[in-house]
Amino acid sequence: MSEQQAKTKQAAGGKMWAGRFREPLDAVFEQWQRSFPFDVRLLPQEVAASKAHAQMIAAAGILTDAELERMIDGLDQVGDITPEFAPIEPGFVNPRLLGAELGTTPRSIRRWLSRQPEFCEIHVKHTRIALAKDDPLLLRMKNHFAIQANLDLDGEGACEEFPATTEADLAASMARAEDVHHFVELQLTRVIGPLALKLHTGRSRNEQIATDMRLFVREAIDTTVKGLRRWGLALVELAEQAKEAAMPSYTHMQRAEPVLAAHWLLAYVAMIERDIARLADARRRMNLCPLGSGAVAGATLALDRAIAARELGFDGPTLNSMDATSDRDFLLEFTQALATLGGHISRFAEEMTLYATAEFGFLDLPEAFSTGSSAMPQKKNPDFTELMRGKSARLAGAATTLAVLLKGLPLAYNKDLQEGQEPVFDAADTVRGILGILPGFTRSLKFNFARMKTSATTGYLNAMAEATYLSNKGVAFRRAHEIVGNAVRLGLESGRELDAIPLAELQELSPAFGEDFHAAIGLEATLDCHDVVGGTARARVHAALTEARQRLSSDAWAQL
Ligand code: ARG
Repeated sequence: MSEQQAKTKQAAGGKMWAGRFREPLDAVFEQWQRSFPFDVRLLPQEVAASKAHAQMIAAAGILTDAELERMIDGLDQVGDITPEFAPIEPGFVNPRLLGAELGTTPRSIRRWLSRQPEFCEIHVKHTRIALAKDDPLLLRMKNHFAIQANLDLDGEGACEEFPATTEADLAASMARAEDVHHFVELQLTRVIGPLALKLHTGRSRNEQIATDMRLFVREAIDTTVKGLRRWGLALVELAEQAKEAAMPSYTHMQRAEPVLAAHWLLAYVAMIERDIARLADARRRMNLCPLGSGAVAGATLALDRAIAARELGFDGPTLNSMDATSDRDFLLEFTQALATLGGHISRFAEEMTLYATAEFGFLDLPEAFSTGSSAMPQKKNPDFTELMRGKSARLAGAATTLAVLLKGLPLAYNKDLQEGQEPVFDAADTVRGILGILPGFTRSLKFNFARMKTSATTGYLNAMAEATYLSNKGVAFRRAHEIVGNAVRLGLESGRELDAIPLAELQELSPAFGEDFHAAIGLEATLDCHDVVGGTARARVHAALTEARQRLSSDAWAQL
């Protein structure tokens, strides 16, 4: 080794960009700028993208068939590594957060896991829990332990055993790796030797991170859509059980007209369907492969980019290398879609919180999702709905971070983009957490339909139906409105609802009132007079329920 090479090696400590440098990095800066502590969760995506790249360079003649085979096999082995702090299958449980609450024994963690709704017994059994006291990186991160499991939102228990990797060089490369790309290269070198150094031929980390994030978001969209469909179906089920139960609807938070409780619940299904459509739309737009874009100007090898695109399930390669390496619109769209979804979840949470108050009394909060007060023995607090409402703020925060991060960035890649990862992970984890609980919560809601009905049939909520009755008798609506207004005032002054005012008294207000009047303002008639597409007439809601169930169960959403 020449003196120059020795200096370089010492200065850069095995970095991917060592050659040009003589001075070592400032030690604090070096740790501070690393993305590995959070981008390690992109390990599966990085390995998949690296395999696709290997295929491409092999096709371009850089690797022989035998070398390609060794490379793919080595990458598979690297993909099997489970660094001690890797979050649970992409990061549902954040060990850093759990560490504070749970103590540090594997038993206490296992006990905690068994209480989580997403964990079936088999998950708990297959969960590997490692105390990581001796790992310097973990100590630095203030983690006491790590959990590694393969969660399946379906609860079907598709679990895998994870091979333990405790070798010293793994720990060392974990501590040294600048980012997940560097880590894979270090590990691949450990597994297959110097051949690993050929993998970087014709590629740049700029296209790698762009690809990894696309793969991550694509998967996160699929998980979110799955959870949304499950929540939508839970709402449909609840709406079906509500049959013809009525409740007041509100405008300006003042009682307006009676609606079917099913109609109200379907309003949330409509929001969910828009959320799904937004995510599906973003997914379609982002499903292109940046590999082969190089650092900025395109790969320096004549790569067949279609190979990598196909391998990774993309619809094709991206069309401009400068855009592809710096484009994070898909992160923005994803977080914005989640922020909108968060708004919907928060509205739902707010209504449940409100309707569970003694003042409304429309609903009894399920005990399994509520907590008591340490001070006031009578309390049952709506923690789940309040936390959902609160967590939606994080989603809006992620979208804001992305919007501000991207604004004003010159083309093409800039390191600022590294800051776009954590908010995306956090938003995906937040939604995944909520949607893991929300369908079960929704299914266990118990409404007080008698109380809802009383609220729907008192307070002149049939005034609009009464005005409609008059207009059907030929009275101009503006005039009908005024007549019914007078009737309401009469009722208010004498403490009577509209249907308790005798016909003779009403006829003094307008001769158009007839014998059929009472039938026209009864609850059922009041509901049924809204007989339009999207209205609360019983037959319309019945049909809407069937259609919503069909749409949410359709495979069209399953195969985005
Ligand atoms: N960790 C980096 C990121 O997230 C990976 C890309 C690094 N590229 C570079 N030219 N330094 O953006």
